[in-house]
Amino acid sequence: MVIYFSGTGNSRYAAEVAASETADEIRDAGAYIKEGKRGDFSSQRPWVFVSPTYCWQLPRLFAEFIRKSRFSGTRDAYFILTCGGETGNAGEKIAAFCREKGFRYKGMLEVVMPENYVALFSVPEEAECRRLTADAARKIKDSVRYIREGADFPEVKPGVLDRVKSSGLLNAGFYGFLVKSKKFYATDACISCGKCVKSCVLNNIRLVDGRPEWGKKCTHCMACISVCPEEAVEYGKRTVGKRRYLCHEKAEGLF
Ligand SMILES: Cc1cc2nc3c(=O)[nH]c(=O)nc-3n(C[C@H](O)[C@H](O)[C@H](O)COP(=O)(O)O)c2cc1C
Repeated sequence: MVIYFSGTGNSRYAAEVAASETADEIRDAGAYIKEGKRGDFSSQRPWVFVSPTYCWQLPRLFAEFIRKSRFSGTRDAYFILTCGGETGNAGEKIAAFCREKGFRYKGMLEVVMPENYVALFSVPEEAECRRLTADAARKIKDSVRYIREGADFPEVKPGVLDRVKSSGLLNAGFYGFLVKSKKFYATDACISCGKCVKSCVLNNIRLVDGRPEWGKKCTHCMACISVCPEEAVEYGKRTVGKRRYLCHEKAEGLF
């Protein structure tokens, strides 16, 4: 069973490709998280967890969801991490997480896709996004044979710098200092459509007099800023005039 978390659609698409290629079921962890529910999953086929990379690790929110959810049937767990550049030493961290959860770790596949962290970086141009997405789909299609055959994904040896990037200390600093919602605001271009409200997996946005207001729970998934049809959501000054990104691709034959 393929279980994914996605802010701006890259990992949803990656999960769809993986599910389509393995002819397996697919579940959106975000829907459970939004409803405040844990998962109760059962499958004889391997678990395939798909998500973005946050600060060179599995996103905390997704890890928490997996930790709290119940999994019966198989213990084999594959991870596909989409990223804008690289996953650092996420694999070793996930392997430790699997030991804690009682999963048999079958490896992690790094899949480069368009960078979506518009609050910090620039999003690639459209043609580059299309190229990256097509390459990503190809890589996943080529790699699902490991899942079909029950083999581990090929191991990638981390370097010293990878270990630093994925360290607990850096991750704690990332969530403690950077992942905040107070810089989000809506400009006069806001049309009160409420798409930002719906997109927020943590139900952290509400409309007040027709304008979105952000509470304190935020995981920086970039959904609210990316779904706005008027590009009216900004994050301080960093996002002004910057291209937004959403992955609209659909895996063929699935839906
Ligand atoms: C909060 C946050 C942290 C990120 N950290 C990393 C990172 O450490 N390394 C990386 O290569 N990309 C990083 N990215 C980029 C995303 O992992 C990448 O664009 C991913 O494909 C987005 O997936 P999604 O569309 O399913 O949300 C980060 C993005 C966000 C929003």
